[in-house]
Amino acid sequence: MRAGRPDDKEYDVPRYEDAYRDSLGNPEKFWLRAAEAIDWERWPTRALDASRPPFYHWFPGGRLNTCHNALDRHIAAGNGDRTALIYDSAYSGERTSFTYAELRDEVARFAGALRGLGVGAGDRVVVYLPMVPQAAIAMLACARLGAVHSVVFGGFAPRELAARIDDARPKVVLSASCGIEPGRIVEYKPIVDEALRLSDHRPESVVILQREQAHADLGEGDLDWDTLTAGAEPADCVPVGADDPLYILYTSGTTGRPKGVVRDNGGHAVALAWSMSAIYDIGPGDVWWTASDVGWVVGHSYIVYAPLLVGATTVLYEGKPVGTPDASAFWRVIAEHGVKALFTAPTALRAVKKVDPRAELLAAHDLSGFRTLFLAGERLDPETYQWATDTLGVPVVDHWWQTETGWPVAANLRGLEPMPIKPGSPTVPVPGYDIRILDDSGAELPRGSEGAICVRLPLPPGTLLTLWGDDQRYADSYLSRFDGYYLSGDGGYMDEDGYLFVMGRMDDVINVAGHRLSTGSMEAVLASHPAVAECAVIGVADRLKGQVPRGLVVLKAGIDTDPAQLRTELVAAVRSEIGPVASFKEVDIVSALPKTRSGKILRKYMRSMAEGREEPVPSTIEDPTVLDALRPVLRPEGG
Ligand code: COA
Ligand code: AMP
Repeated sequence: MRAGRPDDKEYDVPRYEDAYRDSLGNPEKFWLRAAEAIDWERWPTRALDASRPPFYHWFPGGRLNTCHNALDRHIAAGNGDRTALIYDSAYSGERTSFTYAELRDEVARFAGALRGLGVGAGDRVVVYLPMVPQAAIAMLACARLGAVHSVVFGGFAPRELAARIDDARPKVVLSASCGIEPGRIVEYKPIVDEALRLSDHRPESVVILQREQAHADLGEGDLDWDTLTAGAEPADCVPVGADDPLYILYTSGTTGRPKGVVRDNGGHAVALAWSMSAIYDIGPGDVWWTASDVGWVVGHSYIVYAPLLVGATTVLYEGKPVGTPDASAFWRVIAEHGVKALFTAPTALRAVKKVDPRAELLAAHDLSGFRTLFLAGERLDPETYQWATDTLGVPVVDHWWQTETGWPVAANLRGLEPMPIKPGSPTVPVPGYDIRILDDSGAELPRGSEGAICVRLPLPPGTLLTLWGDDQRYADSYLSRFDGYYLSGDGGYMDEDGYLFVMGRMDDVINVAGHRLSTGSMEAVLASHPAVAECAVIGVADRLKGQVPRGLVVLKAGIDTDPAQLRTELVAAVRSEIGPVASFKEVDIVSALPKTRSGKILRKYMRSMAEGREEPVPSTIEDPTVLDALRPVLRPEGG
């Protein structure tokens, strides 16, 4: 038995324990039952195909269409008048809603437009769009055709977009004239043009959505979104194999080259539908809001697919709780649209708290229908947890997952069996995930001991199939460190009650305002500056964004440069090569970097110095005197 439940008497059976045991002990039965929630054109013969370990495929032989399950199915069941999507832009003031029937019609027409451009099953479409309904429409239209979308977050620079275009090799690129950020309009068309100039791959078409905040000049071969769609014939759903790809989503790894996480259709639909009721307690007709961006996995799973798969209403919100009309924007959206549960990153709440620490702006809004706040994407610090709990008076539920997994790995399953919340813990392993904590040798650690958080293979449905076009990199990155396990990249421990505690990344990935970034890619930009001999980028604690990157560079011998000018150039280079989303604002010039005798830079140690919790000096350090010169740079206040 795990920790006691607050309302034990309501349950005759320990529902979580049963579900967890069944999911691992009899995955065939467990997941085939979950698959009944989905419409299949051909029912799968089995749940799991384990014939080619370490590659596992779910629902072999099954055929379905994800868009049909997200839209058409609900209309056929008589629910076409139910609201599918509410669009709310804090920047433009626009509020629109689509019923399931209206959204299906928009999607079918846009799918027809894409088909007219030659897009068919298996073709890739890169989507570089701001938070407008057309982003969801584009994703669902691809799904309708069996095409594979790859959405790129708008805060990435042309070079990052180009890298994704070259890897995914799309037939079509979809974009808009602009995105809107607090206080500024970001023109997207020049970014797309520059990315296409940098990329080797040439898409056959580029389609641009004109927004009224900025007009994009269309070049030869560019197509106008509205014109293209106006003349299109609606397209029907094309059934695909359960393990055919639905999307590729690039995420940051240890090196600068992004990893194209591949998601299937069948496992994804089954797992997401299951998660909506079991984890989030959301069903048909409920209003659900994920305040994130469609460019991240949270947006894919919980703005677009999962809420629609279960017939709920999803809120697609363009805005941030900074620089928008005021910090009460979140409360306004919850009250105005009758939101039952909100999912966002802790950093968003820190932004609200910074402006309105006593939550005085809350009083003007009726949040009586609001039931739960879900947080993920980065560590939930105790201060933010407490503030949110006190302010909102609803359960504040941390949960842990990743782009690779596509849906929660550890959570407090509010629909299955709510458990007591322990601040600092995303609670327990979700059914399907056999979480183990391993030491460096791969031995399993006892409760309370910290190590690498791993999941025993096979991973459940909905998790990554592989990396796009690179099975070997998939195996090398995640499966080769410990035989038979998926390596999450996070470290942590399990307590006596079976609650997981996630302590942070064990690799060179950092999390800035809930956005996952690679320090390796920032180092590559710094290292390419002609004055830089060597460099390191570390993630240091930040009160608003959780972590921010900090650069340290050593100059080449004989370089005589103005330090302030060099710093400006380096900050500008990271912004233009990776994008503003990197939030790279601080870089210091130092005489040397601390290294081990084998030449490995001691990044983790420097991070502990910068955060004022200096760890014991590693015995492998080559020259400890380097630290004396570094200390005043990293901690100038000496505190
Ligand atoms: N297009 C263009 N530029 C973008 C962008 C986009 N889609 N998204 C971010 N940027 C830019 C921002 O304008 C900012 O530029 P600046 O340095 O010129 O100000 C920079 O990238 C950093 O953006 P961000 O990290 O979002 O910082 P912020 O100060 O603008 O906002 C938060 C901070 C915390 C309010 C905001 O990040 C937030 O609400 N995050 C939580 C929700 C979330 O999206 N989580 C993701 C995973 S769940
Ligand atoms: P992403 O792939 O962008 O979703 O980022 C995944 C990473 O974010 C994880 O590997 C963790 O490092 C971090 N993360 C996500 N959720 C949590 C959480 N609830 N607590 C701590 N870290 C988290």
